[in-house]
Amino acid sequence: MSLLPDSPWRRLVVGVDTPVPLISGAYTTAINFDNAATTPPFCAVMREIEEFAPWYASVHRGAGYKSVLSSNLYEKARDAIRRFVGADAARDIVIFTKNTTEAINMLAYKLAAEYPGQVVLSTDMEHLANDLPWRYHAQVEFAGVDRQGRLLLDDLEAKLAKHKRRVRLVAVTGASNVTGLINPVHHIARLAHRYGAEILVDGAQWVPHCPVAMKPFGSLEHIDYLAFSAHKMYAPFGAGVLIAPKQTFAQGLPVYKGGGTVSLAARELVDWEEPPFRDEAGSPNAMGVVALATAVQTLAALGMERLHAYETDLLAYAVNGLKSVPGVTLFGDIGRPEERVSLISFAAQGIHHRIVAKILSYEAGIAVRTGLFCAHPYVHNLLGLTQADIEYCHMHPDGALPGLIRVSFGLYNDRREIDRFLEVLTWIMRNKQRLIAKYEQIDDRINHPDWLLQPIRKEAP
Ligand code: ALA
Repeated sequence: MSLLPDSPWRRLVVGVDTPVPLISGAYTTAINFDNAATTPPFCAVMREIEEFAPWYASVHRGAGYKSVLSSNLYEKARDAIRRFVGADAARDIVIFTKNTTEAINMLAYKLAAEYPGQVVLSTDMEHLANDLPWRYHAQVEFAGVDRQGRLLLDDLEAKLAKHKRRVRLVAVTGASNVTGLINPVHHIARLAHRYGAEILVDGAQWVPHCPVAMKPFGSLEHIDYLAFSAHKMYAPFGAGVLIAPKQTFAQGLPVYKGGGTVSLAARELVDWEEPPFRDEAGSPNAMGVVALATAVQTLAALGMERLHAYETDLLAYAVNGLKSVPGVTLFGDIGRPEERVSLISFAAQGIHHRIVAKILSYEAGIAVRTGLFCAHPYVHNLLGLTQADIEYCHMHPDGALPGLIRVSFGLYNDRREIDRFLEVLTWIMRNKQRLIAKYEQIDDRINHPDWLLQPIRKEAP
């Protein structure tokens, strides 16, 4: 797709033209380049929520018309999600969670209970959601990355071979939230299966941006487990997903126990429900699930191939522009934008990442994320930090901690916004001494709730 000045999908998203206040007192249209953290909602999602609201009632718990209707929509959502990622209608279950992190934690607890002493092979490019749970539930190893942050497939295979078919699970991200690099998950699935392991893909940054196919059971390329979050795909309201073989969750005890998980519970015995019902304790999040189902249907109608092509062009445009901003160093393999999702992290020489973010926001209404992006070991590695550097940070948590600046695009962003961002960043880099002196004195606006709430209270011009 050729790159248009405007996104063809901008009007599908809520809030893209919202004015936000600047430090000068003026207002400007916000530019949101923090979509990897959270996306704004689709208009279709908000419409659906409004239409559903009068009919909303408890799921799986009532005989009333609204309750039965809500239960029906909730169950139908599992099919929509299965279709979106090509999961198996008979053998996979869709468990609704609150987000990717909860989904991976659930799997970690479940597998640890069933396979004590299991070996899990994760990687050095993971978000902490796909790192920390394994550290406490398995003997975990991490496949390395190269200087560009690319996963070392040879190292991954060597570690699989070293454990002689004792690796239970390979837990790998579909796409990095730091460099945007997409992993060849089907190739990794082949390796994992060849060594008798299963594969979990953390799809939080992958599923919203790329066509995804879990592929059939029995194929070496099959993805056994997939987790992702609705709030990163234009559907807030707190839903997440774990897709897993039904068989995994049919054994043993559910991780969370309580209402909805049993068909019968007496003092002497408990009859657990079938998966996924036994794995969704408490009242289900019907609003969140309906929102997610609407979002995946909207994304499917746009076409994930088209969407990925548009976002790839957007990324290439941004990378190209960033290369000519003085003092900016880009991270990750920037040579092949089509092998990345639409985000890029960079460092700005001589100016702390938090100050850059503050200036972008206060002077131009541009939102970016900075820091370690909940992927601390990966960013430490990219920055080349030594053990001594990390110790220093540990001893000085209030200091100016190292980190990167990340811009991440959604399907509604466009070239004009990138131009504006590049213009402001160039101005920052050219005037950094003056701006550092100014912004080091300025308190974080988060400490001024009255000022922050102004636009929401409709005091904006
Ligand atoms: N993990 C999310 C991010 O990368 C929140 O920003």
